[in-house]
Amino acid sequence: MQEKTRENVYKAFVGEAKAYFRLLAYAEKAREEGEEQAELLFKAIAEAERVHASNHLNLLQDIVIKDTETNLLESFNREVSISENEYPDFVKDAEQEGEQDASLTFSRAKDAEKKHAKLYDQAMYHVMKDEVKEYYVCQVCGYVNESKAPKKCPVCGADREEFKEINA
Ligand SMILES: [Fe+2]
Ligand SMILES: [Fe+2]
Repeated sequence: MQEKTRENVYKAFVGEAKAYFRLLAYAEKAREEGEEQAELLFKAIAEAERVHASNHLNLLQDIVIKDTETNLLESFNREVSISENEYPDFVKDAEQEGEQDASLTFSRAKDAEKKHAKLYDQAMYHVMKDEVKEYYVCQVCGYVNESKAPKKCPVCGADREEFKEINA
């Protein structure tokens, strides 16, 4: 793909992906306000933006989406970098500005990302293995556990009921 188009496709993907989450938050707000029509409209457009984001991303086969072994490795590297660089800086800045909520969210995300990295690391050596384990994701902080939901989330303390099972 030509350079300018590739850049634009990536920008469009990022924009649509952001819109997806923003619109779902708007839908939630509309629901709280009892505005059912607006809620449904935001949800419908969010779904449409998700389709756009996915279409754009699919154009980037071999550029962004590679083979699974490479994708696991790149995802591992990203998790290590974000948990060791970005999030610690974000926590520091939030602390300096007295933003406790942001500080807590960042530091929980930092800890959860460390575990994500560990899971990628393990999976890299298990590509093609027969045994498949399901994962459980904390809906409060994004901590991920394999095989079973922990009694309490080690990152945020949430109960077992807060974990969502991910299976094929
Ligand atoms: Fe992560
Ligand atoms: Fe958690």
